[in-house]
Amino acid sequence: MELKIDLNASLRTNPKYLEMNAENKTKRVNIGILGFGTVGQGTWKHLEENNQFWEKILGVQVIPKKASVRSLTKERKIKISDNALTTDSQSIVDDPDIDLICELIGGIEEAKNLTLRAFRNGKSVVTANKALICEHGDELFEAAEKAGVHYGFEASVAGGIPIIKVLRESMVANEFPLIYGILNGTSNYILTRMEKEGVSFEDVLSDARELGYVEADESLDLDGVDAAHKAVIIAYLAHGIWVELKDITVEGIRRISIEDLQAARKLGCKIKLIGVIRRNFENNHISVGVYPSLVPMAEIIARTDGVYNGISLTGSVVGTVVLTGRGAGQDPTAGSVISDIVDVVKAKNGISGGIKLKHVSPDECKPANAVEIEGSFYLRLTVDDRPGQLAKVADCLAEHQVSLATVSQSPKNESSTASIILTTHDTNEHSINLAIQSLEQLHGVKEKPVLFRVFDPNSFSK
Ligand code: HSE
Repeated sequence: MELKIDLNASLRTNPKYLEMNAENKTKRVNIGILGFGTVGQGTWKHLEENNQFWEKILGVQVIPKKASVRSLTKERKIKISDNALTTDSQSIVDDPDIDLICELIGGIEEAKNLTLRAFRNGKSVVTANKALICEHGDELFEAAEKAGVHYGFEASVAGGIPIIKVLRESMVANEFPLIYGILNGTSNYILTRMEKEGVSFEDVLSDARELGYVEADESLDLDGVDAAHKAVIIAYLAHGIWVELKDITVEGIRRISIEDLQAARKLGCKIKLIGVIRRNFENNHISVGVYPSLVPMAEIIARTDGVYNGISLTGSVVGTVVLTGRGAGQDPTAGSVISDIVDVVKAKNGISGGIKLKHVSPDECKPANAVEIEGSFYLRLTVDDRPGQLAKVADCLAEHQVSLATVSQSPKNESSTASIILTTHDTNEHSINLAIQSLEQLHGVKEKPVLFRVFDPNSFSK
């Protein structure tokens, strides 16, 4: 009998070969995505949409190459070629052409086995799997370190909020007596609508299901377990200790009624499901818990509504820092996955001290001119208090296409002058500057006009 040995196959899984192979391909990093659900598809989409950009900031192309699915025939929003899809996640992990794995299948056993296998194959892994890290983080981090690869998990806590990086890097000089916040978007959405609209728990839950917010295992969201997974990860990053889920208080939102929410409001509070991580630095005891709490309205966390998450970190050096943003959903979570991918590529390619600065040519981006910078304005004028003065001011503004939104006038007691306060509709910096120059020359205008911009952040998201 002839014994056939596939030399290439054994070579392919040899870390030395992988290293050499990686060296030969420094200009290209191929990504394999395990699990092509909401976050997997978002990651693929944003990697592709920004493909010009990766090379620019990293000097390396980052290419989504393969994805694993449970069903090849299921309709998906993101269309990719048939030969990029497989039902065999392990084949992606073992594929020598794939450099980096995104584990987005969720669950514990399969995800853990694939992650450890990827590490053994010399591949770094990026994940959004909070349950896996909460339960096996210690073993996985150790395995990654042993294999000399990276394990990124920014997307596992608070979706698009960069909390992991903030804890590990930005706030590294701090100790944390208190970290608390809203770590589950679904339950926050439910509580917010119950409180603001008086809709029953069951009705909002049914809307949340339709919107695709609720986890397949609803108990994770409704009974505080998902928030607890995240609190455990935060506690580890802040204090270096794995607190076991079984040792902490975990309560959900099922017992909160509209009556409770209204009563809390009368007390100047909102009821929020919060994760709380406290450390007493005198006796070095740490406590972690997730439970509904009355949070005073003065706190940003109390005013963090809807599917948003919010985390308040009190650091020994910096004081309190609060981060809020979208804690779940395709785009925010994919953004965090990609941030980890970029970190791995940086580390593997010896790019230290941050990514290259985003230097672009004037064809790609240049300073806007004054005509393009739009907004509305607040204007205060001190004028002679006599007939026709207001009309003259309005004419002067109209001449420069500045339209008035509101006007009020009040006489100044001590003199024969009046104060005119007006706001404009949207105009642009060029027109308002010309209008101000004309107003300064206008007979009866006594002082240099006072001008402030009316800041509307929503007008910037266009
Ligand atoms: N079920 C989670 C939430 C998803 O609602 O926050 C993000 O981890």
